[in-house]
Amino acid sequence: MSRITLTKPDDWHIHLRDGAMLNRTVNDVAAWANRAVVMPNLTPPVKTLDDATAYRERIMSAFTGSSNFEPLMTLYLTDSTTPAIIEEAAKSPFVCGVKLYPAGATTNSAAGVTGLESLKPTLAAMEACGLPLLVHGEVTDHDIDIFDREAVFIERILAPLVDEFPKLRVILEHITTKDSVDFVESARNGVAATITPQHLLFDRNDMLVGGIRPHLFCLPILKRNLHKEALRAAAISGNPKFFLGTDSAPHTLETKESACGCAGCYTAHAALPFYAEVFDEEGALDKLEGFASHFGPDFYGKARNSEQVTLVKEDNPSPLSLSFGESTVAPLRAGETLSWRLESTE
Ligand code: NCD
Ligand code: ZN
Repeated sequence: MSRITLTKPDDWHIHLRDGAMLNRTVNDVAAWANRAVVMPNLTPPVKTLDDATAYRERIMSAFTGSSNFEPLMTLYLTDSTTPAIIEEAAKSPFVCGVKLYPAGATTNSAAGVTGLESLKPTLAAMEACGLPLLVHGEVTDHDIDIFDREAVFIERILAPLVDEFPKLRVILEHITTKDSVDFVESARNGVAATITPQHLLFDRNDMLVGGIRPHLFCLPILKRNLHKEALRAAAISGNPKFFLGTDSAPHTLETKESACGCAGCYTAHAALPFYAEVFDEEGALDKLEGFASHFGPDFYGKARNSEQVTLVKEDNPSPLSLSFGESTVAPLRAGETLSWRLESTE
């Protein structure tokens, strides 16, 4: 198959940033997705419906396309998120979830949650209102190795949480391990996961053998090959619990290529070619549409898109860098040749 037409996808996990960066991020994702679930890790974070409303307006002013584009907003769960904040947000047609960042786990997570015990009434309110919890699933304990942080989070935090709030809808974001695949597969209904292109394309050897490649550094960190293989198997399985979320997260060249480089990969400009390459390598292009365009809206209780996109198998040179106003970002696989290209959207 050298050409494939699918229902137009959505991106169920993206970092659009703010200010000048929005001019590029919003339009890159809107070129192939009708909806994007926008992460709230700005400084200061998006904590209330008012914050989300104002951020959504800034996003829509940066959008210059003519297609449909609908940012779905998330609130940042902090130690002081009250049930009243949840109840207000749940009434909004464009707030689609609340994001849990364990404090210190990743970029701009200083305001994150230090413990879930005091947030139980808030989680109960989310369960009652039907507002999903989006989870960055890593513990931050100093004594837990960075490669084990996702698996330990599932055991210590997520599994008990999913049991204690049996109706709470939970998305384990950007999963990176076989442990997460196994957990989500066997979890009750209402538990799902997003998978990024970088975790399907690369393992930790790609990042570390022969030199350190800072543009492959993201969180949760790339794991060993057996985990990448488990993620690929989950993505092409046709199991509706696994769907597309790029986690596209731009950082400038200077902040990535640094003695203490930032975590995050930029993929919004070419996300569908990345995913298509993986599904093609796996001989599973027929499973791409479910993963990219059906299972996300089904899980969130939204209509599937009516538009279509067409991808062609054709050499597609990836730029060395992308301009973000005054700043420069090296996207994932900068300077390489991708094997698929987005041909059209209609
Ligand atoms: C994200 C970012 O830069 O905002 N970085 C990343 O490595 N994925 C934050 C996140 O999703 O963890
Ligand atoms: Zn993210």
